[in-house]
Amino acid sequence: MSRVLLVANWKMNMTRVEARAYAGDLGSRIGDSSGRVELVLAPPYTALDAARDPRGRWALAAQNLSGERAGAFTGEVSAAMIAEAGCRYVIVGHSERRTLFGEDGPLLSRKLARARESGLIPIYCVGETARERAAGSTRETLAGQARALADDPGDQPLVVAYEPVWAIGTGLAATPADSAAAATDLRTLLAGRRDLRILYGGSVNPGNARDLLGDGGIDGFLVGGASLQAATFAALAEAASA
Ligand code: PGA
Repeated sequence: MSRVLLVANWKMNMTRVEARAYAGDLGSRIGDSSGRVELVLAPPYTALDAARDPRGRWALAAQNLSGERAGAFTGEVSAAMIAEAGCRYVIVGHSERRTLFGEDGPLLSRKLARARESGLIPIYCVGETARERAAGSTRETLAGQARALADDPGDQPLVVAYEPVWAIGTGLAATPADSAAAATDLRTLLAGRRDLRILYGGSVNPGNARDLLGDGGIDGFLVGGASLQAATFAALAEAASA
């Protein structure tokens, strides 16, 4: 079995000073055990450097990128800049980007293309709202969101994070059965991809990680709130490697 992938999405949290302290704390907790878990930290752009592990026990991800290559786009950060800053991954289409910043399928397709041009592995987020779930249209939502991947090269590694919107930051995680159903749908929708890993995200914590990993049909987690303390993230890594 490939290693469990555990991604810490810090969102708009952590100054450089805080990131440096977190990295030191996490490093001392995980010691030399790279173990069965691949760890990735996704700090704000400003803290990427501070969150780096000189010993390479975790990789870095950016939380977002521009759909443009370069030029007069004030406030944007390009894929090339992110890759040069040491990131291996980039999160694309997080539900907060979709709902709070109006990111739609065509824009996300451009972001995916920019990520590939710079050799970044996308962590592409999908997931239904509570209303879509209640209407029984989860599968249609996932299929619609997966359309942004139509032009993404199938021979490149891809990570898809199933993050039901109703589970993000609510303390109300999906059940392993919910997660497994979505993962099965996604694997069907993306059949033919050579290297596809599926993460679950939404109120993951050290208490529910084992069950989700066991029966949730997934390869790891995208973690928000429970990633903000090094102790909790290390506990998640421990749970995921057990
Ligand atoms: P949460 O966030 O773990 O705080 O629910 C997950 C995410 O938004 O990636």
